[in-house]
Amino acid sequence: MKIVVIISCLFILLIGACQTQSPSNSQQQEIDSLKSVINQLKPGLGEVMTQFEYHHDRLSGAIGQHDFERASYEVDEIKEAAEKIMQLHITNDKLQQPFSFFFEKYLKNSLDILADNATKKDTAALRSNFVALTNNCNGCHHENNMSFMKIN
Ligand code: HEC
Repeated sequence: MKIVVIISCLFILLIGACQTQSPSNSQQQEIDSLKSVINQLKPGLGEVMTQFEYHHDRLSGAIGQHDFERASYEVDEIKEAAEKIMQLHITNDKLQQPFSFFFEKYLKNSLDILADNATKKDTAALRSNFVALTNNCNGCHHENNMSFMKIN
């Protein structure tokens, strides 16, 4: 009988020991350190914004030159940059909501319409919807305490 009690005690001790030194702890540390590496490698929100600005400017040039293929390409690049922000969950302390919320509110519709205008080679529509896109860039800046960041 005693031996059974001793074995049971040892067994309970062993389980206790395993729990305090559980492998999931070290795995958790590994996961945490990988997460911090990923955060260091992610582009910042401002970096992707400069890509927005670059393609926004090129889009303006393409519309001015009636270069519809180029316009369509630039719209796509803005969309891809926005998708990158969402896929990598890029954010910062200025953003009042996740970027996906603002994408739906300010960019998605404008970009879809511009892509359609480019396919239809409709310069007048491209011009007015480009102005709408620019206003939406600025609308989001305004909503996120960045009113001074005026895109034109
Ligand atoms: C989420 C709403 C949002 C939308 C939509 C948005 N921006 Fe921004 N933008 C921001 C925020 C927030 C910052 C500040 C980023 C930072 O803190 O580095 C910013 C910064 C910028 C900057 C300055 C980047 C730098 O680091 O110098 C530029 C340029 C810019 N945006 C261009 C654009 C253009 C062009 C568009 C439209 C195609 C656009 N943004 C749409 C929120 C937005």
